[in-house]
Amino acid sequence: MKIDLSGKLAVITGGSRGLGEAMAISLSAAGASLALVARDKNRLAAVRDKLIASGGQAACFAGDVTDEKQVARIAAEVNEQMGAPQILINNAGTNVRKHLVDLSKAEFQSVIDSSLTATFLVSRAFVPGMLGRSYGRIINMTSMLSHVSLPGRTPYSSAKTALLGFTRALALELAAEGVTVNGISPGPFGTEMNHAVMHDPQANAQFLANLPVGRWGRVEEIGALACFLCSETAGFITGTDIVIDGGWTAK
Ligand SMILES: NC(=O)c1ccc[n+]([C@@H]2O[C@H](COP(=O)([O-])OP(=O)(O)OC[C@H]3O[C@@H](n4cnc5c(N)ncnc54)[C@H](OP(=O)(O)O)[C@@H]3O)[C@@H](O)[C@H]2O)c1
Repeated sequence: MKIDLSGKLAVITGGSRGLGEAMAISLSAAGASLALVARDKNRLAAVRDKLIASGGQAACFAGDVTDEKQVARIAAEVNEQMGAPQILINNAGTNVRKHLVDLSKAEFQSVIDSSLTATFLVSRAFVPGMLGRSYGRIINMTSMLSHVSLPGRTPYSSAKTALLGFTRALALELAAEGVTVNGISPGPFGTEMNHAVMHDPQANAQFLANLPVGRWGRVEEIGALACFLCSETAGFITGTDIVIDGGWTAK
């Protein structure tokens, strides 16, 4: 099935590397224009240049999506320079892996803010421009840890489980508008977020032992799934969460 997203504008937070970059590549190949958001300007520019070199259209909007004022500024710049987006992928997120007793309040809060509060702020900024157009797509990057958990992940599991609830509630608010809202729950993918685990032979072996398919996810597999969820064909899928985890949560 060929997916055609030409004429669509997509905002991707955390579009400077990892899963965000992979989704940007996939959506751009399907014809969408991309507004890429992250804090590191140089890495954003590198992704933008890659998309443009492949014949796509893309622009960068640097800023911190946990900061209400910066989100308002980014939304104003995107709307002015590119128009109102029909697609929003709330992908920015961070992780702090520590046991409960070693966590500071700031560390706990930072993980909640980067996944959950940022999704609220960015959605609130862009949803008004998605109304009245009979088509819109919001994807929130949840996690297999929205469904199961691991020791040392209280902040991340809390953020991603709450994000699943946010996804369902917003889907109900926007269903009559033709705007779908879904989660993508990845299992382990070999991005920078997971380098510490991948480069620790014992932790890596432990992860692989839990993966029925016997390998880490490939980022382009997330790109393809995001592209499908953005297609017209996926208009009946809303308020749910697609787990893409090599079978981790099936056990
Ligand atoms: N990789 C996995 O296995 C996996 C599994 C389940 C869920 N996920 C989720 O998928 C999403 C992407 O993960 P990833 O593996 O691609 O992570 P990553 O490689 O660490 O990339 C994270 C992205 O988010 C951006 N970001 C982080 N905090 C931000 C902030 N406050 N404001 C703006 N941008 C911010 C980063 O750019 P800057 O640092 O430059 O801002 C970067 O572009 C995350 O939500 C993650 O929790 C990943």
